Amino acid sequence: MAPGNRVLLIISGGIAAYKSLELIRLLKKSGIDVSPVMTPSAAEFVTPLSVSALSGEKVYTSLFDLTDEAEMGHIQLSRVADLVVVAPATAHLMARAAQGQADDLATTVLLATDTPVLMAPAMNVRMWDHPATQRNCEQLVRDGVQFVGPNKGSMACGEYGSGRMAEPSEICQAVQARLTTGPLTGKKIVVTSGPTHEPIDPVRYIANRSSGAQGTALAVALRDLGADVTFVTGPADVAPPQGVRVVSVQTAFEMQLAVSEALPADAAIFAAAVSDFRIAQPNSSKIKKDGDAAPQLEFALNPDILAGIAQLQDGRPGLVVGFAAETDDVIAHATAKRSRKGCDWIVANDVRPDTGIMGGTENAVTLITASGSESWPRMSKTAVAQALAQRIADTLSE
Ligand code: CTP
Repeated sequence: MAPGNRVLLIISGGIAAYKSLELIRLLKKSGIDVSPVMTPSAAEFVTPLSVSALSGEKVYTSLFDLTDEAEMGHIQLSRVADLVVVAPATAHLMARAAQGQADDLATTVLLATDTPVLMAPAMNVRMWDHPATQRNCEQLVRDGVQFVGPNKGSMACGEYGSGRMAEPSEICQAVQARLTTGPLTGKKIVVTSGPTHEPIDPVRYIANRSSGAQGTALAVALRDLGADVTFVTGPADVAPPQGVRVVSVQTAFEMQLAVSEALPADAAIFAAAVSDFRIAQPNSSKIKKDGDAAPQLEFALNPDILAGIAQLQDGRPGLVVGFAAETDDVIAHATAKRSRKGCDWIVANDVRPDTGIMGGTENAVTLITASGSESWPRMSKTAVAQALAQRIADTLSE
């Protein structure tokens, strides 16, 4: 088996299973080997014989088949491939995978695998739109599962809407993109992003204007270069990216814990706008107005997450990058911040309100390293992220 070209294809039981035959044909044509796993209900729609004939491989169907287990146990099966593809992914299979159930061969393989998973959902529009499916989908995204489709269109059931499985050619393209390795393949990178919310009482909190756009763009750019990204995000405006491990947090303390749990890592990038302060003693019930007297809030300092990681004696990531949001003397303040916090690089940006950078789509940054500073032209946050990810890849490969 050539490295990087084997897919474990899980076919679950929906009418779109017939399209899996065409998918297998296209994958094989592109030089990709296919190890098929079928759920018992998939075998009601397409025969294991057709799947085996097209893939040229044995089809695995049962967790409790003695021959299957003897030839290739379910744990080994979960490790043979470079990518696990679930097409079609039915609502039922997604629900079981989101809950970590392992009640048949397909879900057991999904729970046991440490390779990336790509799902192509296929179901009726109402089932796709149902809050339960959407919740399961969000959970799977958080667990690092990537999705292709579903598309809008007319369905086998006669209805029209979202839920139609992506075309085999689209799925094949998505598979090819994921099997392509990049300069960051095999590198673990932690990215923090978004604001933190520090509670005042159960209904109020301290926050800031960070949208999470730059951190999200960075996670996408690192992922696209092949990195294994853990994305620790506060409550941001933008949705977290697919294909990365998402850890959602609210407060600076939660973010600090999530970052340390994500170590060891080759690099850690701190794009979050962490609140420097929290309320020393958040009220357990809503603070009521008390006549004309405004409440007095006592603040406490939050831990500096970046400085803590940059100054680790043991297990410090090889490259630690901070961001510096400044409103004046940008380079001087950011240079001082770099040495105070002990990080390798600081990406400084000017966040004066007239720049439109905070919450906007563009950024103008200066990269400050041990060897000096480099100002980049104003460009989209996506372009900044791509340039930074490439620089990280160059540095980690040195
Ligand atoms: N940072 C952090 N933990 C904090 C505060 C900041 O990890 N409690 C990180 C940010 O993610 C960023 C860098 O430190 O990468 C600088 O953040 P910034 O807000 O610019 O700096 P502060 O340390 O808060 O300094 P100041 O507000 O005084 O400019």
